[in-house]
Amino acid sequence: MRIPRHLAIIMDGNGRWAEQRGLPRILGHRHGVETAKTIIEECRRMGVAYLTLYAFSSENWGRPNEEVDSLMALLNTFLDKELQTLLTHRIRLNVIGAIDRLPAQVRDTLFRTMERTAQNRDMVLTLALSYGARDEILGAVRTLVEEVQSGQLKPDAIDEQCFSRALQTSGMPDPDFLIRTSGEIRISNFLLWQLAYAEIYFTPVLWPDFSPAHLHDAFVEFERRERRYGLTAEQLPDKCDD
Ligand code: IPE
Ligand code: IPE
Ligand code: MG
Repeated sequence: MRIPRHLAIIMDGNGRWAEQRGLPRILGHRHGVETAKTIIEECRRMGVAYLTLYAFSSENWGRPNEEVDSLMALLNTFLDKELQTLLTHRIRLNVIGAIDRLPAQVRDTLFRTMERTAQNRDMVLTLALSYGARDEILGAVRTLVEEVQSGQLKPDAIDEQCFSRALQTSGMPDPDFLIRTSGEIRISNFLLWQLAYAEIYFTPVLWPDFSPAHLHDAFVEFERRERRYGLTAEQLPDKCDD
């Protein structure tokens, strides 16, 4: 099976999963964390090289305080508890987003976990936390403008590679596949630049119900897609390969 090199996932539907059961939303998030663990391990097993999970958006800060606080606490315990799994499976933790907005304790756990897993080479797990793609793009623009103003960079040298390097995903290939759960058909400010040519897969399954079998279904669909990059089908060198 052709496995995406960089898989990005918008993990959506925790709240509805809980509401359907008459449970508080936070219980949906708790189940969502269990799903995330399972899917991380399955991606590693299937040979995904980069997995990027949208865990908390810059807009999610606007949710009720109680929900935001519980999400931050969940994140902290997840990172604490999962360190051993990341080490065992040789997974490197990475983060993108406005990290300075996270509570100090979460930031500390995050940095500690990134440090401890920095030498791992089998998969890069990137958590998008307090992440918004427009914020990220503006950050890149600011960096490049400063470099131009200080004379380090010529405006003519700003090409796609140069711009990509100024983003927080610098050094990673662009995602080739995006999965969004819960039936919403939108991007919600996720990786706007990087997803330019990603194949996109929407499933009605709510994130806490998303299983390795659902992931395999998505990969089957990915394999079926023909990635044309603006060319005609006849121009493609080999339909079976990337
Ligand atoms: C996704 O689930 C998790 C986060 C955004 C943190 P939601 O909480 O958005 O679940 P729904 O969309 O309300 O069902
Ligand atoms: C996107 O989900 C963000 C995450 C999954 C972390 P949302 O539930 O916040 O997105 P909208 O509000 O439905 O667009
Ligand atoms: Mg949602």
